[in-house]
This record gives sequence, C-alpha cells and structure tokens, in this order.
Amino acid sequence: MKALNPVEFIKGLYGIIDGKVHLPESQKENPVLQVLLRRRSVRKFKKEDIPEDVFRVILEAARVAPCAINLQSWVLGIYNQDTWKKTFGRSIPFDAPRAVMVMGDIHRTRGVINEISHYPLVEYTLAVMNASIAAYAMNIAAESCGVASVMLSETGKSGFYDAKYLKKKLNLPDGVFPILTIVFGFPKGKPLAMPPKLPIEEITFSEKYKETDRDTMKEWLNQMIAGYRAWRITDSFQNQVKRYVERAGAAEENLNRLVFYNPEE
Ligand SMILES: Cc1cc2nc3c(=O)[nH]c(=O)nc-3n(C[C@H](O)[C@H](O)[C@H](O)COP(=O)(O)O)c2cc1C
Repeated sequence: MKALNPVEFIKGLYGIIDGKVHLPESQKENPVLQVLLRRRSVRKFKKEDIPEDVFRVILEAARVAPCAINLQSWVLGIYNQDTWKKTFGRSIPFDAPRAVMVMGDIHRTRGVINEISHYPLVEYTLAVMNASIAAYAMNIAAESCGVASVMLSETGKSGFYDAKYLKKKLNLPDGVFPILTIVFGFPKGKPLAMPPKLPIEEITFSEKYKETDRDTMKEWLNQMIAGYRAWRITDSFQNQVKRYVERAGAAEENLNRLVFYNPEE
C-alpha cells in the first residue's frame, strides 16, 4: 500500500465528505431506519454512566436476536469501569463507561446436543454468525437509546483476539472463544464523517457474481488512507493493517487451539 500524493489525499478526503446515506422520501420519518443509518462507530465518550435499565435493554436485544437453530451460541462478559479495571488492570478502551465482551459459546449447547461437534468448522462458524448478529443488535438498540458504541477486536489486553490470555483470565471453558468487545457510552462531540462505503451496485449482484471494478477499489483504498491520516495525523491506515497482520499469527494459533480441540481428549 503506497502513500498518497497531495492530490490523491485531497481527492480521498473529498470522496469521504461526499459519501451520503440514502433515505428515500417515503421513509424519511421511519424511526428504525433513522437509527440504523445514523449509527457510526464512536470513540469519544462522556464520563456519564449508562442508566441500568438502558444497559439492560441493550442486553435484551442480544438475548432475543435471531440465530441458527436458535442455539444462542454466545455468552456476554459485561463490565463497568470498576469491574473491567479489576479484571484487566486498566481502563475500558476509549474510557467508555461500559463494555460487553461478545464470545462464541459452543460449550453450553454441547451439554445437550453433541452431534454438531463432529463438524467443528461448521459449529464454530454458526457460533460466530450468531454472536455477531447479537452484537449488532446491541449496537442498534444502544443507538436507539442515544447510547453510542464501537465494536473492537480488543479483548482485554493488547487489542487483537487474545484468546489464550482471556481463556486463562476469565476461566473460559473449551468451546468459549472471544469474538469482539463493544464499548458503550454517551457520545462526546460530533461523530466522525462516515468512512467510505461502497455503493449498493458494488456490494450486490443478480444472477451471477460480478467482480468489483479495480478502480472503484483503488478509490476506496485512497479514501481509507486519506480519512485515517486526517483522523490521526501521527498514524496511518497502512500501519493499522500492519499491526493487525503482526498479531494475526498468534491469534490464529490460539483460536485454532480453542476451537478445534478434541472434546474426547
Ligand atoms: C468485528 C469488528 C472489529 C472492529 N475492531 C475495531 C478496533 O479494534 N478498533 C477500532 O477503532 N474500530 C474497530 N471496529 C470498528 C470499525 O472500524 C468500523 O465499524 C468501521 O470503520 C466502519 O465505521 P462505522 O462503524 O462508523 O460505519 C471494528 C468493527 C467490527 C465489526
């Protein structure tokens, strides 16, 4: 990934500012769509805590989320600043007042249904799908209550799927594996501009798969690089990808051990 020249940088920023959410006239007053389309990842929070009943209804949204075979193959670690500090020895990322660690849980159902465990990749994929949908339900429920959030690959320690560390720290049984952490709070300041989203025509096809045009992808990448630089002058999108890749090997190994263990051993 190469750095941008000044013209590409300006064009990239302009592309971001130009990106709009499309809400048809007939749905302008639709409150659900308004919530869904205005949600953005927020990384600056007020100190103010979330009222207990509001936090509870966010969890309720996860509880009733749709899931394959109604397996509910997730478990949520819920934290406030005190319990997070006690557990992980530091503050919740971005100093948010609440955090929910979303984990896949195939341990619980294995107590009563063992058959799926013969197909560990399928079982794992189902759990990830189910847990991710529950996570998004929490994001949207929160947003509808005026509570902002951001999903993080962060899992308590250094920021990227520290599955082995968490297994020990939280006494996770085999079959319980971290997926992501969502931090919640009331937003401070204005949200950032929407990061570049591909047009509907590029993320859909009818009849047969359609390649996304390379120039469109290059434009998207330039917007990502320009937006990241404008957001954090001392960092870059290239560095962020590098940080992910550096940790991916350890994450992969840990997940492998957690997911593809032999329950008979
Ligand atoms: C599984 C997942 C992991 C993410 N991890 C991080 C993260 O570690 N740090 C971060 O700042 N944002 C993280 N995000 C938020 C994305 O960066 C964000 O959703 C994306 O840039 C799109 O922006 P938007 O949510 O405002 O539409 C993550 C999102 C998802 C769904």
